[in-house]
Amino acid sequence: MEYLTPKQIVQQLDRYIIGQKEAKKSVAIALRNRYRRSLIDEKLREDITPKNIIMSGPTGVGKTEIARRLAKLVEAPFVKVEATKFTEVGYVGRDVESMVRDLVEAAIRMVKNKKMESIREKAEIAAENRILDVLLPTKKRKQTNPLGILFQSDEEIDTDYANEEEEATSLSMVNTREKFRQRLKLGTMEDTLIEIEVEDSKYSGIGFVPGIGNEDMLIQIQDVFGSIMPRKTKKKKTTIGEARRIFEQEEAQKLIDMDEVIEDATEAAEQHGIIFIDEIDKITGREMSSGPDVSREGVQRDILPIVEGTTVMTKYGPIKTDHILFIAAGAFHVSKMSDLIPELQGRFPIRVQLHNLTQENFEQILTQPENALLKQHRELMKVENIRLEFSQEAITEIARISYMLNQSSENIGARRLYTVMEKLMEDLSFNAEDLSGQDILIDAKYVKNALKELVYQEDINKFIL
Ligand SMILES: Nc1ncnc2c1ncn2[C@@H]1O[C@H](COP(=O)(O)OP(=O)(O)OP(=O)(O)O)[C@@H](O)[C@H]1O
Ligand SMILES: [Mg+2]
Repeated sequence: MEYLTPKQIVQQLDRYIIGQKEAKKSVAIALRNRYRRSLIDEKLREDITPKNIIMSGPTGVGKTEIARRLAKLVEAPFVKVEATKFTEVGYVGRDVESMVRDLVEAAIRMVKNKKMESIREKAEIAAENRILDVLLPTKKRKQTNPLGILFQSDEEIDTDYANEEEEATSLSMVNTREKFRQRLKLGTMEDTLIEIEVEDSKYSGIGFVPGIGNEDMLIQIQDVFGSIMPRKTKKKKTTIGEARRIFEQEEAQKLIDMDEVIEDATEAAEQHGIIFIDEIDKITGREMSSGPDVSREGVQRDILPIVEGTTVMTKYGPIKTDHILFIAAGAFHVSKMSDLIPELQGRFPIRVQLHNLTQENFEQILTQPENALLKQHRELMKVENIRLEFSQEAITEIARISYMLNQSSENIGARRLYTVMEKLMEDLSFNAEDLSGQDILIDAKYVKNALKELVYQEDINKFIL
C-alpha cells in the first residue's frame, strides 16, 4: 500500500476539484494521521482515535466529489452512505449498522481484487483448459453422485470406457488439443460460439420471507441458504471470449482462500476504513417535530455509538468501529450544525466549511480538472468526427452566465454548469451528422446566442414569481 503525504493527497485532489483548500487539507491530514498511528507503539496506538470530520457548505460545491475522489485515491475500504436512507432501529428499513456491514463488504471486495491479481495467471490457464474441454470433450464421463449433491457436490467419477481403439486416438487428441490451445492463445477464435455450463448465481427458491422486515437480515438469510444449497449450474451459449471471462472468474474464485480474505478485510476495515455519511443535515429533525421527523433524531442517536466505537456483528464476524474514520457532509442551509444533537456534534471535532464557487472557479471547473466538462464535450463530438474548440471568451461567457443564473434563481453550485452546457450543446449535438468532418469553434457570440433562451426564461420566471 502506498501512503501519500498530506501535500500529495491535496495535489491529487487538485486534479479534479477546484478550490476548497481547507476541506482538502483536513481530509488529507486525517488520512495521514492514520498512517502515522499505524507506526506507533501498539499500546499507545489503541488510544489514538481518528478525528472525525464534518463538512458543510452549499449544494454543488464539491462535498461529495471530495469524498468520491478520496475513495479512489486511498487504498482503504471506503463507503459512502446517505444519512437519509437510515431508519431508527426497530423500524422497517436500513438500520445504521448496515453502514459498517457495507464497509466490510467493500473491504472484502478490495482484498479479493488484490488477491485476484496475484492468481490471475493460474486462473487464466485453468480457464483455457476448461474451454479446451468444451471444444474437445475427453472420454471422461461426468456422473453426479446423488450423495454428492448433499455433501461434496461436483465429484467426478471416472468411468473406464477406454478400449484399445480409443487409446490409440488419445495421442492424436493431445496433439489436437495443443493446436487448439495455440489458436486460443492467438485469439483467433474469440467470437466462436460454444455451450458452457455456468454456475447459476440466482438464489434458488428463497424470495420473500414473511415476517422479516429488515432488508439486511433478509440478505443475510439468503447468504446462509446460498452457501448451504448446492450450486446449481445452467447451460449457456456464448462466445469463447465471454466464456474465458466467466471461467477465469470461477477459477479465481476457487483459488482464493476466503478465510484469509476475510481476515485481511476485517482488519483493513477496522484499522483503515472510512465511512462517508452524506446529507447529515437532513436528519436534523428540529424544523417540525411530527411524522417521520421523530425517528430522525432516533437515527442520530443510533449513529452515536458507531461513531464513538462499538462492535457491530457482520456476516464476516464482529467489527470494532473505534478506529474507523467518519467524514460527514451536509449543505446545512435549512438546518444548522447546531441542530444536530450535541452528542453527535461532539463526535465530529473537525469542521470545515466549503465555499461558494466564484465565476472564476467556474471557468476553472470548465477547463482544468482531468475530466473537465469542456473536455468531455470535445471528446463526445470527436466521436461524430467533429473537432470542437472553445475560445477563451466563450469560456468566460459560459462561466459568467452560469454564475449569474445561480445568483438570480436557485444557487445550485457547479451543477449549474451541467445544465448550461447541455443547453449550449443542444443544437450541435442534434445536428452532429451534418457537421461531420468540420472544425467548429464556439465563440462568445455563439454562447450568448445559444443561451439567450435560458437567460430570458430565468428572467421571466423571476418576474412571474
Ligand atoms: N470545486 C469543484 N471543482 C470541480 N467540480 C466541482 C466542484 N464542486 C462541484 N463540482 C462538480 O459539481 C457536481 C456536484 O458536486 P457535489 O456532488 O460534490 O456537490 P455537493 O457539494 O455534494 O452538493 P449537495 O449538498 O447537493 O450534495 C459534481 O459533479 C462535481 O464534479
Ligand atoms: Mg452531495
